[in-house]
Amino acid sequence: MDNFVFYNPAKIIFGKDQEKTAGEWIRKYDGHKVLLHYGGGSIKKNGVYDTIIASLKANDLPFVELSGVVPNPRYSLIQEGIALCKREGVDFILAVGGGSVIDSAKGIAAGVLLNEDEDLWEDYYMFKRGPEKALPLGTVLTIPATGSESSRSSVVTNEATHFKRSMAADCMIPKFSIINPKTHYSLPPYQIACGCADILAHLMERYFTPTENVDFTDRMLEASMKTVINYAPLAIKYPTDYNIRAEIAWVGTIAHNGLLNTGRLGDWASHDLEHELGAIYDIYHGEGLAITFPAWMKYVYKQNPKRFVQFAQRVWDVEFSAEQEERIILEGIHRLERFFTELGLPIRCSQLHIDHSRFREMAQKIMVNRDHEGEFMKLYEEDCYQIYCLSE
Ligand code: NZQ
Ligand code: ZN
Repeated sequence: MDNFVFYNPAKIIFGKDQEKTAGEWIRKYDGHKVLLHYGGGSIKKNGVYDTIIASLKANDLPFVELSGVVPNPRYSLIQEGIALCKREGVDFILAVGGGSVIDSAKGIAAGVLLNEDEDLWEDYYMFKRGPEKALPLGTVLTIPATGSESSRSSVVTNEATHFKRSMAADCMIPKFSIINPKTHYSLPPYQIACGCADILAHLMERYFTPTENVDFTDRMLEASMKTVINYAPLAIKYPTDYNIRAEIAWVGTIAHNGLLNTGRLGDWASHDLEHELGAIYDIYHGEGLAITFPAWMKYVYKQNPKRFVQFAQRVWDVEFSAEQEERIILEGIHRLERFFTELGLPIRCSQLHIDHSRFREMAQKIMVNRDHEGEFMKLYEEDCYQIYCLSE
């Protein structure tokens, strides 16, 4: 096990009706003027918007609004948000939505406090570096998926350059995140599937580690993966079952709040491979991961077959047989693909009508400002290209 420092100050406020308390929490964190940031309108349809407005008003909090965040959030809207916050004297940002809204809010929060000579995109996103200061932010999470509600990172697409990149810093961890699983009832089945694929991917990125002797976190990861595998189909089948939604919501946050990678190095190549797909084809993050993760697995499993056997047996209950190591591994990968397929997700690029024509370009872009990709097995441009080919 590696040395580690674990720090996650995001206060999680979980349960029915908790979004009503948003205004009180902003007051507790000394917010006086709020930017209410949200997406394309789902919060107006499911009533969350009205509840939040009522809570802000009840706490005498003046606010300005910036809507229009899209999946694969755009850098141009962040720039608009920074200008708006400066103009209006905003001192607290409330993000109401999914990972895209929260990540956009984090970009704005950091951008408002940058010095004149700093460039948010070129100095931070393009180098995965984190700024030192950000405005405080809170979130109301409406889709369990990215874990951004308690993560350090913000992932954004620069539509001018077609790069999708992330930056990370402790100052961007939300002060509080409100999670009411009832507000997830209105999610379309496909978004539930995308969200669950992302949660599972966050667990697998951590599971496939080059670090030895990490049994405790292995076991926590396995329990978390089994929770997603069990509850994801149920969430689609019974969309208004509170207890099912609550299981998914909580594992989604824990999957990405830093706890499960304590003492171990994660891989993250499948995520970066997906971000290149998202940058060019604007696909949902979760559907992209259902494509890149199995392809990555097929390319790298020989690096450490023991870990893949453990994954197949402990997570997918593939039966043990010492002579059949490779068959066990491939069966584990097959069961993962079957799980994604049963959720209604694609597992090949062709299912999204993406052909190989830009695979080389994506493999080149992924290496920009990076020495290598991934940690379980270090990858370079040709490896990434081969993985894209396996995903075709
Ligand atoms: O825009 P609205 O109308 O709100 O609709 C959204 C959007 O179309 C809809 N939605 C959200 N909550 C809903 C709802 N529809 C009905 N009822 C609800 N309760 O769902 C769609 C997707 O929303 P989005 O925020 O894009 O989804 P997600 O949470 O999956 O976020 C994906 C983004 O987060 C990044 C991804 O790369 C992607 O850009 N990630 C962020 C991470 C982080 N900051 O730590 C880590 C992740 O690995 C990931 O990379
Ligand atoms: Zn993810």
